[in-house]
Parts: sequence; C-alpha cells; structure tokens
Amino acid sequence: MVRIPVSTAPRPYDVIAGNGLLACAGEHLRKLFPERKHVFLITVRQVLRPWGKALKTSLNAADFRPVFLEVPDGEPNKKIAGVERLAEKLLRAGADRNAIMIAFGGGMVGDLAGLTASLYMRGVELVHVPTTVLAQVDSSIGGKTAVNLREAKNILGTFYQPAAVFSDIDTLSTLSERQFRSGLYEALKAGMIGSPALFRCFMEQKDLILARDAETLGFVIVESIRVKARIVVVDERESGMRRVLNLGHTIGHALEAQTRYRELLHGEAVAFGIIAAVRLAGVLGKLDSGVAETMTAAILSLGPLPQVRARSQNVLERLRYDKKTLDGAIHFVIPTGIGKVEVVRDVPKTALIDAIEHLRGLSQPPRQVQSA
Ligand SMILES: NC(=O)c1ccc[n+]([C@@H]2O[C@H](COP(=O)([O-])OP(=O)(O)OC[C@H]3O[C@@H](n4cnc5c(N)ncnc54)[C@H](O)[C@@H]3O)[C@@H](O)[C@H]2O)c1
Ligand SMILES: [Zn+2]
Repeated sequence: MVRIPVSTAPRPYDVIAGNGLLACAGEHLRKLFPERKHVFLITVRQVLRPWGKALKTSLNAADFRPVFLEVPDGEPNKKIAGVERLAEKLLRAGADRNAIMIAFGGGMVGDLAGLTASLYMRGVELVHVPTTVLAQVDSSIGGKTAVNLREAKNILGTFYQPAAVFSDIDTLSTLSERQFRSGLYEALKAGMIGSPALFRCFMEQKDLILARDAETLGFVIVESIRVKARIVVVDERESGMRRVLNLGHTIGHALEAQTRYRELLHGEAVAFGIIAAVRLAGVLGKLDSGVAETMTAAILSLGPLPQVRARSQNVLERLRYDKKTLDGAIHFVIPTGIGKVEVVRDVPKTALIDAIEHLRGLSQPPRQVQSA
C-alpha cells in the first residue's frame, strides 16, 4: 500500500493506493473522521454489483452508517440536472452538513458527486474511491469537479479538494477491455508530461500492462498518481503549470463534444488529442521526428481506436469553447520531448486542420473496437 501526499494549500490530503484497499477503507476513514456516522456513497450499478459489498462491510466494521445512492451511468448523465437530482436524493436520505459523500466509481461519478458535494449545503466532506484506471490516475486527484453543457465539456464546475482518495487497484479487474485501455491513455499522458520511466514502462511492458499484471499495473497507477500529485500541488487553480495536464485535451474535448459524448470514451478522445498535439509539435518544429513517431506508436500500440467521424471544420469551431481559450486565443499543450511539454498559442489554422484530418486517417472502423 502506498500513501502519496497531495499537499494543496487550502487542504492537504493523501491518496492511498494499493490492492485490497476497499477492505480497510472504513478504518482509514475512521482515522480521518473520529466522530462522524453517516456516509453517502454515490455510485453506479456496474460498480455497486461487484464491489459494493466489500466497501459496505468495511464501513460497517468501522462503525459508519453507509447509504448507497445510485445515479444513472454514462457521460450524457454528467449534466446539471444530475446534480439537482442527486442533491434531492441526498436530502431525502437524510444527509445533513455532517454527511460524508463518497464518490465510488469512475470519473463521471467523481465529477458529478464532487460538484454536488461542493454545493450541497454549501459543501460537505468528500472522499473519492475511484474504480477506473482513468479515475485512479487522473480525475480523483486535484480537486476539479464539473458537469457538461450540450455545447462543451466540463463548463460548470468547482475546485473542491477531497478529504482523501482511496484507490483500490483490484477494482480495475472488472473493467471492460475498452474502458481499461481508455484509462491507460491518461496514464501514458502522465508519462509523456512528467515521467520518462512511466513512458518507458509503456514501451517495454505493454503486454504486461494490458494483461493487468498486478505488479506492472501497480507501478503504472502509482507513478501516474505521483506525476499528477506533483503538478496539482504547484498550481491548484490551473493558472500555469497545471495546464500541462491538458495535453491532448483541447482537441480531445472538442472531439467528444462534436460526437455528443457518445462515440468516444474520454481517454480515447485524449489519445487522439495527443496524437494531434504530437503532429502540431512536429509542424511547429518543436519536436524531433523520431521522438514524435515513438510517441504516436506508443499510443497506437495499446489497441484499436474508434473511427473519428466528426468533420475537421466542426471540430475546429468547437475549440473556441475550450476553457483554455483565453481572450480568443486557443492554447495548446504540445510535447517537446519525453517528459517535457510546452504551452503554445496562435497555432496556424491550416496546421490544426491538418492535425485533425490526420486523425481521421488513423482510426479504425468501429466494428474493430470492442464495446464498452
Ligand atoms: N475532474 C478531473 O480532473 C477529471 C480528469 C479527467 C477526466 N475527468 C472526467 O472523468 C470522466 C471519465 O471517467 P471514466 O473514464 O472513469 O468514465 P466513467 O466514470 O463513465 O466510467 C466508465 C464506465 O466504467 C464503469 N465502471 C466504473 N468502474 C468500474 C469497475 N471497477 N468495474 C466495471 N465497470 C466499472 C462505469 O459504470 C462506466 O460505465 C469524464 O467525465 C471526464 O471529463 C475528470
Ligand atoms: Zn482527461
């Protein structure tokens, strides 16, 4: 079991990661909250069924009273109406200001429950128990919460730090192939922006990672958490350094919104976004062509990606809704080497169109992609 401190200024907390963690989550939570009783677990059926009992047992053993509140699954449900519905459920279930909310699921649950926790009675305690690769390596750390608008992703949100994050790597065993791989793209991103050792692991141990070998997967998860924890501590509110975490997310988010959050998983969209950023970096003369090829190959080697059906012009138009667009100028994070990135602006439109067109050529027909 590994404890990784996230020393954000307003509220430091620990990420505890390891195998079999659900069984001792109650005990860890009790140490943080010696007096509290009521715990509201926000989750989805796919998580509740295989893992709910283990968590409930451990919370009961630590003398908590857990109540499970199910929310509808899927990215299209990450919207403001979902926050309202969840808040009503909490109220009916008796949640008061002393309630502890546990986001028990993937990034969708984490974002929805996180935003609700920050608003409910002006803020109640929040703990993340992430159960997807993506949520363990990325979304549960750093305190960002959000829901989507039809037009664009993650537009309504808050910064709200949790009291703790408990990442049980065992829970990843029930993820579908496609969801598992989707999360790996974010881990690979962590390697590309801040850990050459992690990137190397993807190059050299890809088969072990894909086979979910405990030791290799443990390294990937923990190393990714360390990269993210290091970055969010320096820049809690994403004014500078933290923007590097958005590698692949500018075009990625535009692709997601353009396909109405239904065709691409978040990590897959990010994978495409990174490939586009690598291409842009090459065109701008900021990345050696050999390194660019290695990066693109590392992404494509993880398996087939779905087809990009969005039109380049439409994707381009979406970019102006991006939160990284400031005063009308789109900012792009581009890799300049393994473990190094740079933020650039004023990228020529022709280069952007070229990068997006390139993605359309790369992707595979949908039948070759296993369903989620
Ligand atoms: N807040 C942040 O900083 C941040 C960062 C990155 C991504 N995100 C957000 O995270 C979301 C994506 O997260 P995600 O990829 O985890 O998707 P998700 O939460 O939609 O989960 C994917 C699917 O996996 C299922 N699932 C979850 N855990 C499971 C398990 N252990 N076994 C079997 N099935 C399981 C879920 O029910 C769901 O159907 C997006 O909304 C994205 O915007 C937020
Ligand atoms: Zn992401």
